[in-house]
Amino acid sequence: MKRVVKKAVFPVAGLGTRFLPATKASPKEMLPVVDKPLIQYAVEEAIAAGVDTLVFVTSRTKRAIEDHFDKAYELETELANRGKSELLNILQNIVPPHVSCVYIRQAEALGLGHAVNCARQVIGDEPFAVILADDLIDDGRDGCLSQMVQVFEERRCSVLGVERIDPSETQSYGIVQANPVQDRLSQLESIVEKPKPADAPSNLAVVGRYILTPAIFDKLDKVTRGAGGEIQLTDGIAALLREESVLAYEFLGKRYDCGSKLGYLMATIEQGLKHDELKEGFKAYLARLKLD
Ligand code: UTP
Repeated sequence: MKRVVKKAVFPVAGLGTRFLPATKASPKEMLPVVDKPLIQYAVEEAIAAGVDTLVFVTSRTKRAIEDHFDKAYELETELANRGKSELLNILQNIVPPHVSCVYIRQAEALGLGHAVNCARQVIGDEPFAVILADDLIDDGRDGCLSQMVQVFEERRCSVLGVERIDPSETQSYGIVQANPVQDRLSQLESIVEKPKPADAPSNLAVVGRYILTPAIFDKLDKVTRGAGGEIQLTDGIAALLREESVLAYEFLGKRYDCGSKLGYLMATIEQGLKHDELKEGFKAYLARLKLD
């Protein structure tokens, strides 16, 4: 097994039912927060963490994602003709030259575990990251994945990004039971998908950031349909845990659950308030709104 995290998997083949009808014909991951689609925030975080191969697990209605990371000849020519060099530069650097994109189709949305397993041939025998673009995480620095890569480099085992949630929300997450190792880091004892609050072993929830060793693939091969009738990544991790150490890392930064409408609105407002071009006007607008 290679020892560095160079590949990241972006499972983007889900149905996005919570955002219908917006996601009927266009992917949830292309919803913009201010001026960038969610998937671009995720890709930028991966690249900042040293990833050079982006593996997208897509489906039929996700063509817009491939187009977003592809060259746009006509648009670029037009921007060049009009002398809009700043915009042109932004477009041309969405994916820097040293980074490549690979697209894999998941024919049926059988679950996150199944989606990750679709990337097996491309990942091979390497540790890799998984990023769920609908969890937007802002740490004001290099990003959540960079923090996790640092943990991986020190400990050499799978690392899950976790966050303390309100105990009433356990049914929306994978929940872990873990023993503290050091500040923000604990060793997994068990993991369970979407338990009822009464059955949850803790309020430590797995969010959309993972670094996994390639041993996960053999485990995913054996996972059968679990919670919600889906092949769950959580069940693969539970099996991995019987053979390898898995760590839970409480990342620094703020997470927005952009898979939910409320989380998405929160992200839009807070990122709008940080946006260089918009922040003054937007702040003034919100202040006026409060008075009305
Ligand atoms: P979600 O649980 O958020 O499901 O998937 P979803 O279909 O995207 O959205 P809702 O709940 O119906 O509104 C978590 C991540 O796993 C991917 C999704 O694209 C999302 O990034 N996923 C899920 C797949 O790629 N394939 C699947 O079969 C299921």
